[in-house]
Amino acid sequence: MKTGWWRNAVVYQVYPRSFMDSNGDGIGDLPGLLQRLDYLQWLGVTVIWLCPMFRSPNDDNGYDISDYQDIHPEFGTMADLDRLLEELHRRGMRLVLDLVLNHTSDEHPWFIESRSSRDNPRRNWYVWRDGRNGGPPNNWESIFKGSAWAWDEATGQYYLHLFTRRQPDLNWENPEVRTAMAAMVRWWLDKGVDGFRIDAVTHMKKAPGFPDAPNPQGLEFAPAYGCHMCVPGVLDFVDELARTSFARYDVMTVGEANGVSAAQAVEWVGEDRGRLDMILQFEHWHLWSNQPRVALDVRALKTILTRWQLALAESGWNALYLENHDLPRVLSRWGDTVRYRYESATALAAMYFLMRGTPFIYQGQELGMANTVFTSLDDFRDRFAYNRIERMRAAGMDDADILAEMSLTARDNSRTPMPWNNGPNAGFTTGIPWLAVNPEYPAINVATEREEPRSVLNFYRALIALRTTEPVLAHGRYRLVAKRHPQVYAYLRESEEGRFLVVCNLTAEPATFSHRAFPWQRVKLRLGNYPTPRDEGEWGVLRAFEARVVEVG
Ligand code: GLC
Ligand code: CA
Repeated sequence: MKTGWWRNAVVYQVYPRSFMDSNGDGIGDLPGLLQRLDYLQWLGVTVIWLCPMFRSPNDDNGYDISDYQDIHPEFGTMADLDRLLEELHRRGMRLVLDLVLNHTSDEHPWFIESRSSRDNPRRNWYVWRDGRNGGPPNNWESIFKGSAWAWDEATGQYYLHLFTRRQPDLNWENPEVRTAMAAMVRWWLDKGVDGFRIDAVTHMKKAPGFPDAPNPQGLEFAPAYGCHMCVPGVLDFVDELARTSFARYDVMTVGEANGVSAAQAVEWVGEDRGRLDMILQFEHWHLWSNQPRVALDVRALKTILTRWQLALAESGWNALYLENHDLPRVLSRWGDTVRYRYESATALAAMYFLMRGTPFIYQGQELGMANTVFTSLDDFRDRFAYNRIERMRAAGMDDADILAEMSLTARDNSRTPMPWNNGPNAGFTTGIPWLAVNPEYPAINVATEREEPRSVLNFYRALIALRTTEPVLAHGRYRLVAKRHPQVYAYLRESEEGRFLVVCNLTAEPATFSHRAFPWQRVKLRLGNYPTPRDEGEWGVLRAFEARVVEVG
């Protein structure tokens, strides 16, 4: 029976490599995570989404899986995973795993067999094609740059890889692949995991016939959006997987859904569809990534997020997030790290966290972490970063410009080790961390912020407590107010259980704001990031990045 428990949840995303190292090898691990469960419980989050901890050669930090039913030795053992599950459940918390279905590692036994000869029974488990005119079968570009096809010398064909060349795409058209995947998913469900975040779920279907992508820019390889993202029929794969696995269990599923528009969202998460519970949409991410050097357009953000709120108001549910392991830190994207660090981190937090949906926090976000400092191109660890650096060099960019670009946009920004205290290596490891700690750790760390009442960490904790104790903040209707205000994001949450107004100035300039229906005399400030205004005049002006969460009578 489906209870929908995840609607009341607060999800915390753990990137295991960077969370806590227990044995001094510089790499976070499951025993390390176990040591920090008390912290997560204190914070108040109820679900851990654990990024891949499966056996993997680690070409894309675990998103290249060579055994779905084993643990990567650097992270520990299956006994550690069982213990994690048990310890979380004992605390009333839950565990959600990261399910990478679109591709495996090239070291997965299935791929090793598949590439061994053209007539191997597993040949058709992956996507193999002959070349064309001495080159790849078509002009598709990998999401991680370069051709999406890799040449296999031994069998004289190309295989498809939408991500790195060590992440060959599975052929989901093959029913044997679908059956094997469903069996693997059930194996984890029977073990007691509480759900999945499904990686790259919109990419599982490829356009029949593998046609060239339209390429008006005349690039060497065309961004293949129409060809392997949201291709009609992809939902049939999701349907079948749901039917044969997770729909039978009381678990949560959230799909990583690049390309899905708000208008299409109900198809993916509408309750009567029985597919997924939530999707992680990309539109507000693209608002930044399309123009990473431009200040936040508050109105555009309101338009996007409100569109998603309204699209799923009747059926379906939103996943609310600002950060993850693929994005630079939100404070560096949209906040003010210099003058209004606390204020901007907390205003952004209040803005997204209290909308209708399940909020997600990415590790370190609750500390107000910012991007790290890279001093050379050797500082990067991400394969995608290497590919980008190589391409920019080939295009003639000089290293200083490449470093500036990467410092702004690289995924490694958010993958630096979790800063636990102001000791050596921020308390993350006694060894040498696999990726250098963020140099801000002496001030931005768990231990220091726990002691400081006015810290980003304590604000997040208060926000979680509020979201958890006020049912209207989980379930109430969402209504945007002051739609055209260029600085302020304000919205109401309403139900029979109460009414809240969330008002956030997302700029460094003061902003006037009043709401005719809710004069400030009639409201009660439940959470804010400045001292409570004392008079009418102070109530009417929001200071730089001021956020107010008020209960309206
Ligand atoms: C998803 C993951 C990302 C990974 C990619 C390939 O986008 O979030 O980290 O590199 O899929 O698996
Ligand atoms: Ca370790």
